[in-house]
Amino acid sequence: MEVVIADEYTLAELAADAIERLLRTEAAPVIGLATGSSPLRIYDELTTRHKNEGLSFAHAQAFMLDEYVGIADDHPQRYRNVIDTEIATRVDFAEGAVHGPDGSADDLAAASADYERKIVGAGGIDLQILGIGTDGHVAFNEPGSSLASRTRVKSLTQQTRMDNARFFDGDVEQVPKLCLTQGMGTIMEAKHLVLVATGGNKAEAVHQMIEGPISAMWPATVLQMHQHVTVLLDEAAASRLQLGDYYRHAYENKPEWQNL
Ligand code: GLP
Repeated sequence: MEVVIADEYTLAELAADAIERLLRTEAAPVIGLATGSSPLRIYDELTTRHKNEGLSFAHAQAFMLDEYVGIADDHPQRYRNVIDTEIATRVDFAEGAVHGPDGSADDLAAASADYERKIVGAGGIDLQILGIGTDGHVAFNEPGSSLASRTRVKSLTQQTRMDNARFFDGDVEQVPKLCLTQGMGTIMEAKHLVLVATGGNKAEAVHQMIEGPISAMWPATVLQMHQHVTVLLDEAAASRLQLGDYYRHAYENKPEWQNL
């Protein structure tokens, strides 16, 4: 795991650099998109580069991590709509190139299996953007999730529903109770995981993810078993790390040719 501690603008630039490299070097790049507030600066930065520097997504495909179940198609917080608003329609993805799990399908198990097949059909995800919940969830893999899980239906914890109530007029009752989410096993198959976390409310989850024992109680800890993970943190999110000085030292002294 590489840990980078910087201000949130620098973090967004670093993540955008990694995505730009992929877009400029791969014939058919596949990007994993996350919702939540953490990736928003990255999407702004990519949009700026698309507008000002001609960075093109026309040859890329994208896959979302998760989707609410039981939310109206036109609800602004339906993750499909969030991704369209925050990134998909701001750049030049080809029609049909941005995929998401179908949370409104009648047969959710079939929709989950179909989504897994689509990811494999695209050649797998090259770079997956991730956030982390305050309880260590990734996508919607709540504590107790199998660390080998695949795309499936999950119940949201009350903690996650309360955390996300801010997107639903502050009313936790409006937050759906179910979702479809890529599993931890699905996420672990992406070639490069780029997780961004900011703010002191993420500090404990970040500490557990990087330095705690691997446990389904903190699903993000399974990232310790992935060969290529970049964790982008602001000072507040990094504030509980035991080896913070070492991560800073390692990043400041890494060879210049070594990208994220
Ligand atoms: C939601 C999403 C996750 C996201 C998490 C943290 O539960 N399903 O993908 O990482 O929230 O969100 P935020 O970045 O807003 O803190």
